[in-house]
Amino acid sequence: MIAELERRTATSGFTRTRRTRRTAALRGLVRETRLEPSSFVYPLFVTHGSDVREPIESMPDQYRLSTDQLGAEARELRSLGVRAVLLFGLPASKDATGSEGYASDGIVQQAVRVLKDVDPDLAVICDVCLCEYTDHGHCGVLSATGEVLNDESLPLLSQMAVSCAEAGADIVAPSDMMDGRVGAIREALDEADFAETAIMAYSAKYSSGYYGPFREAADSAPQFGDRRGYQMDPANAREALREVEADEAEHADITMVKPALAYLDVIRQVRDRTDLPLAAYNVSGEYSMLKAAIANGWLEEERIILETLTSIRRAGADILITYHAKEAARWLATHD
Ligand code: PBG
Ligand code: ZN
Repeated sequence: MIAELERRTATSGFTRTRRTRRTAALRGLVRETRLEPSSFVYPLFVTHGSDVREPIESMPDQYRLSTDQLGAEARELRSLGVRAVLLFGLPASKDATGSEGYASDGIVQQAVRVLKDVDPDLAVICDVCLCEYTDHGHCGVLSATGEVLNDESLPLLSQMAVSCAEAGADIVAPSDMMDGRVGAIREALDEADFAETAIMAYSAKYSSGYYGPFREAADSAPQFGDRRGYQMDPANAREALREVEADEAEHADITMVKPALAYLDVIRQVRDRTDLPLAAYNVSGEYSMLKAAIANGWLEEERIILETLTSIRRAGADILITYHAKEAARWLATHD
């Protein structure tokens, strides 16, 4: 029967698949993957001061914002249908244990309060990690000999999560990659009466060169050594599945693969193995790489960005954390 159809379509010059690619309406009907602003998360960098809207040089069109700028930002996001933000903070000062990270009036905690005040319906996610707040730039605390200490870092990360929940965060997102932090944070949240605060675990976070522009944006580069002792080796995919499994067992509500583009195979494998909502982080280097080629006239902006975001969704991600969120939402609103 199919062979018979094949013969007929061959004589008409159309294969079965080309027939449904003929018009925009037909392509829309058979489209398997769709982009929606409601699945986007927009990262924000928050800094002290007032009237600050400081361009981040390595990330065109991204800014470090003071808290008085956040109201306008929230209103713009709402008008675009983007309903979630991920917050990173630039502290006034750094120390060995990253104490501004878990201070109740820390920069991120202040930002949460402002955003929730302007738009209580906005989903506010706080990145939980010490590297932006420590003077050594590592994601945990150090031993006398400069080793990153796993278990000693857990109470501080937990405290940070609780302080964000206290400020009104809907979700906390540990990105430190210490073992056992999801369980420790869940326990601390429950004990502090924040049973409703969700955890989005950066489960498969690779030790990646693609974080370069972010480390400039957040001033969070390690002052010595690197993160290979706690972030994942880019060569490993099965290990990502074990990380996801561990975080799921520790009651993560959402799991994540990061970065996205060089790890689309990992996103697919995780998607096939867990029923948790899956986020993918389209990181700073992936963003800046496209922006640089676009600025040179080598790639077509809207086309390349929507194609890229579609590929991450097609690989299996439900949630897209992306610096492209606003522009992509704008294009999606004006096109088929
Ligand atoms: C902090 C953190 C990083 C990113 C998110 N949280 C940097 C790092 O681990 O060095 C990277 C995000 C990006 O590149 O956009 N641990
Ligand atoms: Zn970190």
